[in-house]
Amino acid sequence: MSTAVFEGENPNNHSVNLGEQSSVSTEASPPPAAFLTQILLGSLASQTLYVAAKLGIADHLVDGPKSVEDLAKATDTDAPSLYRVLRALASLGVFTEQDGRKFALTPTAEPLRSDVPDSLRDVAIFWGEDWHWDVWGKILYSVRTGKSAWGQTHGEEVFSFFEKNPEAAQVFNRAMSSFSSVATAAVIEAYDFGGIETLVDIAGGHGRMLTGILEANPKVRGVLFDLPHVIAGAREQVAASKAAERVEFVDGDFFAEVPEGGDAYIMKHIIHDWDDERALTILKNIKRAMKPGGRVLLVEAIIADGNNQDFGKLLDIEMLVSPGGKERTANEYRELFARAGLNMTRIVPTKSPYSVIEAVAA
Ligand SMILES: C[S@@+](CC[C@H](N)C(=O)[O-])C[C@H]1O[C@@H](n2cnc3c(N)ncnc32)[C@H](O)[C@@H]1O
Repeated sequence: MSTAVFEGENPNNHSVNLGEQSSVSTEASPPPAAFLTQILLGSLASQTLYVAAKLGIADHLVDGPKSVEDLAKATDTDAPSLYRVLRALASLGVFTEQDGRKFALTPTAEPLRSDVPDSLRDVAIFWGEDWHWDVWGKILYSVRTGKSAWGQTHGEEVFSFFEKNPEAAQVFNRAMSSFSSVATAAVIEAYDFGGIETLVDIAGGHGRMLTGILEANPKVRGVLFDLPHVIAGAREQVAASKAAERVEFVDGDFFAEVPEGGDAYIMKHIIHDWDDERALTILKNIKRAMKPGGRVLLVEAIIADGNNQDFGKLLDIEMLVSPGGKERTANEYRELFARAGLNMTRIVPTKSPYSVIEAVAA
């Protein structure tokens, strides 16, 4: 794939770090205008990828190359237009075009399959759906006002939108589960959950991370907490886990209260959804509910100093335009915890872009 934006080339510093990947040095950098053009075309590439993900093209190619006519028939699309989409993706290394307008999978296309453990298909769909794409079209509104473009686009906040739009909610929850699959293995490897009796996953979505942790730690029992409509969808997903019998489901609103009696409360991609005031309400509710000696564990991408390419710094813009939250630096987390009566004890990096940020009662 020649899109330097994703590969880590940065003509300004010749060395970037994308979390898990090691630093990449580049001998010959593209001229600035060419590099900038690649960045500009990123949204076109992303939206074209959405089409392939939504149509399940990678799944159709699992048994071998197929002609664009066969793919168009299978996906109920216009063959000449689908050809142009697949040709564009093949030019980026996603799929490869063979003689006779046939297309085949490439290593980069593999994570677009639905049936692989590191599937990003649902993430690609979430990124491109019109209700999400339209929000990004209003990014300037967020930058001018400091307010969420989601609210401006849909007339309500993200999570009440999902409550009223079950199909969109399903897309979102599946995308979050995919992100969790990628992060969970890294979190389990980096952080020792062994001494925990009851782990409460606050706003744990469909339970992908919680069940992953419980499967790796047979003595830990879990509580999955989220909004009622999310918990309703989580039961079926959790049932497929070997750890299902150790999961208790609780629904509710974390701005009101959270389940009591846990000795650890984990939150992945939660505090970053909210401004400081609302994040503080959640943290204070947890502090009130946890057992004496309990701990809070946040799984978030910490913003680093410097100009290296950084997944968290782009995700931060998604937080700005969609939920109206933000990614934070280590010091910002320390200060937030302190305001909630918690002491940040350590930050455990993982092999993913996320760290486990640990705190205990002050
Ligand atoms: C970005 S998702 C993260 C989900 C999950 N932790 C993960 O990483 O896959 C945010 C979650 O917060 C939940 N949520 C939003 N508002 C909530 C509230 N007031 N009370 C409880 N959960 C809430 C959403 O339903 C959603 O599952």
